[in-house]
Amino acid sequence: MYRTHTCGQLRLTDAGHDVTLAGWVQSKRQFGSLIFLDVRDRYGITQVVVDPDSGADMQKIADSLGREFVIQASGAVRERESKNADRATGDVEVFAKAITILNAAKTPPFTIEDESDGGEDIRMQYRYLDLRRGPLQDAIIFRSKMAQAVRAHLSENGFLEVETPVLIKSTPEGARDFVVPSRMNPGNFYALPQSPQTFKQLLMVSGYDKYFQIVKCFRDEDLRADRQPEFTQIDCEMAFVEQEDILNTFEGLTRHLFNSVLDVELGDFPRMHYDEAMRRFGSDKPDMRFGLEIIDFNAEAKGKGFKIFDEAPLVAGISVPGAAAYTRKQLDKLTEWVKRPQIGAKGMVYVKCNEDGSFKSSVDKFYDQDALTAFAKTADAKTGDLVLILSGEVDKVRKQLGELRLEIAKQLDLVKPGDFKPLWVIDFPLLEWDEDGGRFHAMHHPFTSPKPSERHLMDSTDHEVLKNLKADAYDLVINGSEIGGGSIRIHDRALQSRNFDLLGFSKEEAEAQFGFLMGAFEYGAPPHGGIAFGFDRLCAVMQGKTSIRDYIAFPKNNQGRDVMIDAPDTVSEEQLMELGLKLRG
Ligand code: AMO
Repeated sequence: MYRTHTCGQLRLTDAGHDVTLAGWVQSKRQFGSLIFLDVRDRYGITQVVVDPDSGADMQKIADSLGREFVIQASGAVRERESKNADRATGDVEVFAKAITILNAAKTPPFTIEDESDGGEDIRMQYRYLDLRRGPLQDAIIFRSKMAQAVRAHLSENGFLEVETPVLIKSTPEGARDFVVPSRMNPGNFYALPQSPQTFKQLLMVSGYDKYFQIVKCFRDEDLRADRQPEFTQIDCEMAFVEQEDILNTFEGLTRHLFNSVLDVELGDFPRMHYDEAMRRFGSDKPDMRFGLEIIDFNAEAKGKGFKIFDEAPLVAGISVPGAAAYTRKQLDKLTEWVKRPQIGAKGMVYVKCNEDGSFKSSVDKFYDQDALTAFAKTADAKTGDLVLILSGEVDKVRKQLGELRLEIAKQLDLVKPGDFKPLWVIDFPLLEWDEDGGRFHAMHHPFTSPKPSERHLMDSTDHEVLKNLKADAYDLVINGSEIGGGSIRIHDRALQSRNFDLLGFSKEEAEAQFGFLMGAFEYGAPPHGGIAFGFDRLCAVMQGKTSIRDYIAFPKNNQGRDVMIDAPDTVSEEQLMELGLKLRG
């Protein structure tokens, strides 16, 4: 037996007992022949002591130990003289009678402690060492608990866990596919699933009316903190449901996960129409933990001789409480921030509500005190507040203000740790017009159904009508992060075919790519709908993190590389020839 206890287990009640521990030497403190070892495993850290009475052999072994050596230590548990209140095992130590080195270790390239001295790159290269650190272990353990809780809850509620294939044909979710060449079918490629969307719909046609899967999805898209090329979804589908059933079922799952894994009782799950979210927050995933709502200033801004405002379709802003004292330098910095290419504003105007009741603005050449009072009134700005104003095209200004709102909240530290604000965003448009491409894209995906009341408008050829079509599509947003998205699906061949028309597919293309699904709709497809949660994202948001990387044991870096195994990599000429990707000879 390698160990009788883990390194997180011993307490004062164990004093006097002989135990054996196994783990890694986290640190060694040596005072002559008195040696303290911190021995770590995934359960905790226990102090092991070697002293002059332990004998010359033991001294020799202890002397030779370095960081991250794997050892087995046996001895008696005893009360510590100086206790460590920060550690669960901090009242006791093991007085070593025997230490066996199970494996030596090279000095690790960074410290394996909660706060490591290693940079991101080196830690990614030695991910197996980084994973020994407490914060990563907490994240991975949290994820495991979440997966168990998802399975338990959905199974109890009648969902069947069904696996769908990984070598498939393209499923359009808006990203590029990763493709896999087929040796047996030269010149042909599988695509890795961007989601199991079509398969879960086929399972509904097959009668498995409640499906779920914790499933890997693959998307070749630009990476961000909350995006990985391979990530995991809690993917779900139900038959004989309407939007309301889905929202209630998955509000239930979310509540259960927060409650059972985090011990947090979530408040309301308000619902907001997409149009309203864009208008009030400039985002389809508004963070509801703070206000800073967008205010329309067209009425106050126009007709005072300020050309930029007069010519702009929208003048709008946000009111920042208590920020009138911002210095020139701070305002310049914010202006630079909104002018960055990622935000794209041309400039920013401010109105300060001074303590003495007067107003100061960057455009007071055009706006007298009365005019500025009107801005403050509309913004409901009080003495000491600062109103920040942008202008330009409607959608752009809203999005820019949406970004500014998040930045201000960050700067002013407006979000409290442990505060969770869920929100359903509903009534997404069905189609999105792509100016550059001169065509429609599916806002969610091509299988999403228009609202029943708008179905007849699908036959329209009027762009304005089509642009305004609303879908039975919804996103679950928590703290400004898109946790999940789904829709009620089309289950009728003719309507699906019309949707492909609108998306610019020819009949032949639609048939070649999705004939199998449309064919299935002719064999008794029930009404159905579903949702998929981003599992990595949900874990990160629940623990108040913005990056999903720590919740993935072996993630990719920002270039989509696994620097530990050095992938992607080239393959041999032989392999290329075998795959038909290179001619022989
Ligand atoms: P959607 O594309 O909205 O819907 O994806 C569902 C959720 O998956 C998460 N997600 C990601 N997480 C990490 N890295 C990524 N690259 C990434 N991309 C998406 C998000 C998102 O909300 N088949 C539909 C679902 C349905 O209609 O039922 C789908 O995949 O949290």
